[in-house]
Amino acid sequence: MVGLGPKPPPSRKGTGLADAPKDLVNEIKHLEELFTIDTAKLKEITNHFVNELAKGLSEKGGSIPMNPTWVMSRPSGHETGSFLALDMGGTNLRVCQVTLTEQKSEFDIIQSKYRIPEELKTGDADELWEYIADCLLQFIETHHGDVAKIEKLPLGFTFSYPATQNYIDEGILQRWTKGFDIAGVEGKNVVPMFEAALASRGVPCKLTALINDTTGTLIASAYTDPKMMIGCIFGTGCNAAYFEDCGSIPKLAHLNLPPDTPMAINCEWGAFDNEGKVLPRTPYDITIDRDSPRPGQQAFEKMIAGLYLGEIFRLVMVDLHKKPSVKLFDGQDVSKLFKPYSLDSSFLSAIEEDPFENLSETLDLFQTKLNINPSHPELELIRRTAELIGTRAARLSACGVAAITKKKGYTSCHVGADGSVFNKYPHFKARGAQALREILDWPEKANPKDEDPIEILAAEDGSGVGAALIAALTLERVRAGNMHGILHPENFK
Ligand code: BGC
Repeated sequence: MVGLGPKPPPSRKGTGLADAPKDLVNEIKHLEELFTIDTAKLKEITNHFVNELAKGLSEKGGSIPMNPTWVMSRPSGHETGSFLALDMGGTNLRVCQVTLTEQKSEFDIIQSKYRIPEELKTGDADELWEYIADCLLQFIETHHGDVAKIEKLPLGFTFSYPATQNYIDEGILQRWTKGFDIAGVEGKNVVPMFEAALASRGVPCKLTALINDTTGTLIASAYTDPKMMIGCIFGTGCNAAYFEDCGSIPKLAHLNLPPDTPMAINCEWGAFDNEGKVLPRTPYDITIDRDSPRPGQQAFEKMIAGLYLGEIFRLVMVDLHKKPSVKLFDGQDVSKLFKPYSLDSSFLSAIEEDPFENLSETLDLFQTKLNINPSHPELELIRRTAELIGTRAARLSACGVAAITKKKGYTSCHVGADGSVFNKYPHFKARGAQALREILDWPEKANPKDEDPIEILAAEDGSGVGAALIAALTLERVRAGNMHGILHPENFK
């Protein structure tokens, strides 16, 4: 392909519904009404979002937690040192060794990934912590040799769940998200549990910072790009972090922090509109919530995040199949389709990526994965449903980004984003950018190659490099005598 320029866009022209049965055409129209969010609604959601961000920072609080993270400076690019980083995401566990080198904004990284076994996500807390400690131990043994002989290594732990942090080395889990449901952890400080497992396995490391993936993303991206103001994750879950001024965080007023000092806030915006005031939830969103381990929580996340996109799609298909007035997959064995959470967001990505007019790849997918043989009009309905769900997710995501920029008064900045949906879901970036344009009333670009005033860009590795940087920044400030938010000074010697 060298020299041929960028890959041409898929050749598919869109719905060929001219001869489709009326019932399917009507259903497509109905789905379009349910899932389409127009500009006015995007603006309404964004404005409500701005208020909710402020409410979360108030003493009384709101439904968005807005957790202070005790990350109190931007990286300069001159941080140095070697750190371990442990990343507990929704799907994988990753252990990294990150070396921040003498060269500005440069780093070396070695890493190993471990899949979190499904049964651990709803199992016993001790088993989870032991599994994590074992992975760390294995990593250190492989890369450092005899663990009995090495000095304790500083560790940044990326724990990507909502946790209140009175200190940077403490995290009280507010609630599990992303389908985790492990008893005895919610409402508790996860650090002593984790440290107990490290001690029992003899893992030579000391926890220097507990961080969220969004905070890591913000810091890792700011390390290489001074215009970076917001870090986002659009993956199994969704969330964002940004820098607030300490003086604008009423819930920390009692600490008398210098008002101009920055404080990274982990918004936990997945909880936006849990009270159901503004988000246009469909009956499918309501079912997802009702059948989830934590009904009434993470309302925004459940409409956007990778964990739910495939399930929303599946619920639409099941609903239409069951409707007496509609013939969808009529007479076929739909038993596989009836299994909750059997389709993940990569299933939707594959449908949206099908470049062929006759949707032959989608047909293959349905045959192999679900044992269903859709007709051509059914394939058109499938494709349109995937587009509607994917587009809604991207447009809603843009409301969160726009809300932070409005709250901060940023008219131009970069936003670092990571996560499987952002990186792999087709058109997610372009749809999000289009929604930002509508919300923030930007004029059309003179040249398509020009940057938008606010650009959402692929981030640096937040949970690895970001965790190491935060550990380095924390060590640096503790050594300089800034002990705000440090619970265990002995870990910083
Ligand atoms: C979690 C956040 C996390 C996000 C992205 C959400 O479910 O609550 O802490 O940042 O997923 O991983």
